[in-house]
Amino acid sequence: MILSITVVPKYKDFLDVQTDLTKKLFKDYDPTVSPVYTWIDVDEPIGYDSEAPKRWNYTVFLYYLKLVEVQEPEEKVSVVMELMEYWYDARLSWNTSLYQNTTSFYTRQARVWSPTLTAFGVNDIVDFRDQDNRMVCIDNFGFLWDYISVRISANCQMDVSLFPFDTQTCQIQFCLPIFYRMQVEILSEIYQGIMDDKIFKTMGNSEWKLTNLTNRVEVLKYNDNMGNMDLAIFEITIRRNPLYYIYMIVFPSFVINFVSIVGVFLNEADKMSRLNVGLTNIMTMTFILGVMADKIPRTGNIPLLGIYIIINLVIMLIAIAIVTAITELRRWATPRLKMKKTALRKQLEIFLGPPLEYTCAILLELMTSANFLVMVGFWFDDSS
Ligand SMILES: *[C@@H]1O[C@H](CO)[C@@H](O)[C@H](O)[C@H]1NC(C)=O
Ligand SMILES: *[C@@H]1O[C@H](CO)[C@@H](O)[C@H](O)[C@H]1NC(C)=O
Ligand SMILES: *[C@@H]1O[C@H](CO)[C@@H](O)[C@H](O)[C@H]1NC(C)=O
Ligand SMILES: *[C@@H]1O[C@H](CO)[C@@H](O)[C@H](O)[C@H]1NC(C)=O
Repeated sequence: MILSITVVPKYKDFLDVQTDLTKKLFKDYDPTVSPVYTWIDVDEPIGYDSEAPKRWNYTVFLYYLKLVEVQEPEEKVSVVMELMEYWYDARLSWNTSLYQNTTSFYTRQARVWSPTLTAFGVNDIVDFRDQDNRMVCIDNFGFLWDYISVRISANCQMDVSLFPFDTQTCQIQFCLPIFYRMQVEILSEIYQGIMDDKIFKTMGNSEWKLTNLTNRVEVLKYNDNMGNMDLAIFEITIRRNPLYYIYMIVFPSFVINFVSIVGVFLNEADKMSRLNVGLTNIMTMTFILGVMADKIPRTGNIPLLGIYIIINLVIMLIAIAIVTAITELRRWATPRLKMKKTALRKQLEIFLGPPLEYTCAILLELMTSANFLVMVGFWFDDSS
């Protein structure tokens, strides 16, 4: 044999022992027969039969997760998950001392019975593995594990009231449908290696940062207990990076508002151009609101950014109203004030001129600045 020339003797021994082991192990093995114990009355509580084996257990192990995208209007989050699944099949155990201490080997998944992991309540799941090339590892206790790489698009309800400083929580749930909860137990685990800050940074995307990742098993309970199901849940918490919205919306609309107020109160300009400045500003703000509307679900609450822009709009409306009112006030009051000549009337008349406009302009500019600072304040609050 060519093998014996190219290979060290120990390796050849190993291959022989492994061939022997697989032959014996799979001789009477039927991969369509499941190891799940079903001599169980599903109406009884778990563990009522002391002679029955414990529930057949199955573990989903999260090895890595990567956030792909968040679609806020549809309230969907897509992630790529690298998972391992483990279970036991007592028929695939052997006595290691009979096989020169061989403790594990790899084989095609098609040769063994395997459960079908199903994501619960998701839009879409794409399994990246080639159907024909799936591998499993088997150890001498009948413990089997394999690897799954899937992209999952999960629905999760979003609360955008703090948009763009929002944090969202999303759950990805797995279950083993068709089995009764009295027969199988599902467990979830996270690889501790990825719970590190450095790795966490790589799991988000440029807009969203992953801030927490937890796992648990929850029972989906129904009133009649019949359809109860164990759900292995992985929960991610993601925080938006608001920088884009700060420089695309918050800062520009602050500058536009600030300059427009100066324009509206400009003394040299005639009434029509002042109104024009105001109206242009209002149109710009409305357009900006439209940009924001594309990024958020159509929920009942107004997001922070919306409130900010609406306040800017209101400030602008007040500015236009004041400018219009002042012209009217002047036209009405000046002849009346000129009728008598007292010091107070003289002062009032002066105040009705430019000083009144300056005062209003400064007040409105202060309001605009305060609005901007509060918004930026949320940002610092968020990043701390
Ligand atoms: C899972 O099942 C195996 C074999 O039946 C058992 O050894 C193991 O302790 C079980 N694990 C849990 C967490 O119940
Ligand atoms: C494994 O095989 C050895 C050698 O035949 C035997 O002595 C031992 O009792 C066996 N162990 C088990 C758990 O069957
Ligand atoms: C298997 O392991 C036992 C205990 O570690 C050792 O005594 C024995 O020599 C090993 N057998 C082989 C074939 O390596
Ligand atoms: C992650 O979430 C868990 C469970 O909600 C919580 O106990 C833990 O403090 C959170 N960790 C961080 C860093 O927020």
